[in-house]
Amino acid sequence: MKAIDTKDNQLYVEDIPVIQITKEYGSPAFIYSSKAINDNFQSYQSEIREGDLICYAVKANSNLHILKLLSDLGSGFDVVSGNELKRCLLAGADKNKIVFSGVAKTEEEITLAIENDILSINIESYGEFERILEVSKKLNKKVNCALRVNPDIAIGSHKYIQTGSKTSKFGLDKESVLKISSQCEIDGPIKLTSVASHIGSQISDENLILESVDYLIEIADELAKNGHNIEYLDIGGGLGIQYRDEEEGSPKILLEKVKELLSERDFKIILEPGRSVIGTAGILVSKVEYIKEAGEKKFAIIDAGMNDLIRPSLYEAWHKVIEVDHQNTDLDLYDLAGPVCETGDVLAKDRDLKIMPGDHVAFMDVGAYGSVMTSNYNSRLRPIELLVTKDKVQVIKRKESFEDIVALET
Ligand code: LLP
Repeated sequence: MKAIDTKDNQLYVEDIPVIQITKEYGSPAFIYSSKAINDNFQSYQSEIREGDLICYAVKANSNLHILKLLSDLGSGFDVVSGNELKRCLLAGADKNKIVFSGVAKTEEEITLAIENDILSINIESYGEFERILEVSKKLNKKVNCALRVNPDIAIGSHKYIQTGSKTSKFGLDKESVLKISSQCEIDGPIKLTSVASHIGSQISDENLILESVDYLIEIADELAKNGHNIEYLDIGGGLGIQYRDEEEGSPKILLEKVKELLSERDFKIILEPGRSVIGTAGILVSKVEYIKEAGEKKFAIIDAGMNDLIRPSLYEAWHKVIEVDHQNTDLDLYDLAGPVCETGDVLAKDRDLKIMPGDHVAFMDVGAYGSVMTSNYNSRLRPIELLVTKDKVQVIKRKESFEDIVALET
């Protein structure tokens, strides 16, 4: 049995029936399984070599308790803002295992990163190189950097989550790489220690990432000609999970191939997985408020909206929906629509479900890019978040209150 699974017609997170958790904590609620996070993390951890590093992509789910859990398992972190970096520090992360990606790092963010001696700042443009140089001179501190390169590989997932094509805003083209490497003094304030790439998200074919590794090696060799001794290849994140019938990416297959490719070389690897660590470890539970007919359509109006789970509206993403209560109701075909005043506020379409008002449903595989993408649209309150470990439930984020959401305005 998986950590989140159905047993005797009941949905469980580890040892607890979801209905029991819902009765106590209400809905909508994000519920995560520690075991699922641990198992997913181990599928990487068990394949890496000494010196290699997993830097979990904080953007996928940045809850402090989840960061702490991962840090305790030995994870490092990939952050994309100063505040994500602060979250990692609050969660007790090892500073020397943090990499900082992102195209728009401000002077304050660069200062924070340099002051904390993180493992590397991943440079995404020539302008950023100049800014990091300036800040490190001002602070009189050396800084380790990666060049995030753009290998121009198309990955075939939704266009909003592809990042490695030539015209994307991410990474450096070869010309900029060569310009930076020739201007970066060997014993100067910036030490180029790694080359990085992340070609996109929800990738099922490990060979695409492997192609980017070939490119990273080529760039590292190019940099060596200018005297830069590249220690790490940061191969990014991106392995996909199975939401519906897609192939899930395999950390084992990926890492076996990468290790083979690097067998004659001294590079250490950094990985930045997000979705494949936390995606399957979380569900969103929602209550059916009304059943409503509109022409031939039947809507289940639920208490979670696009502000709680934006993926279906934003990427036409498909999340499996499971009945939590399993009453003896007739099976019918429903669109599940939320309370938000937008036609696009439909979280699932054409689902066969046995539900009636008052019942609960669970949206599966929402651990990644679920709670982190919530908003207060329509002045809705962000959901409670719960972490289950065996038969224990811990509130890891309380439900927002009206006072919370007006606090900055009063
Ligand atoms: N590293 C970098 C530099 C990234 O930009 C990302 C994700 C990751 C690592 C982690 O990728 P993962 O292993 O999670 O695929 N909101 C979208 C996904 C956006 C991904 C952005 N970058 C979604 O809900 O599908």
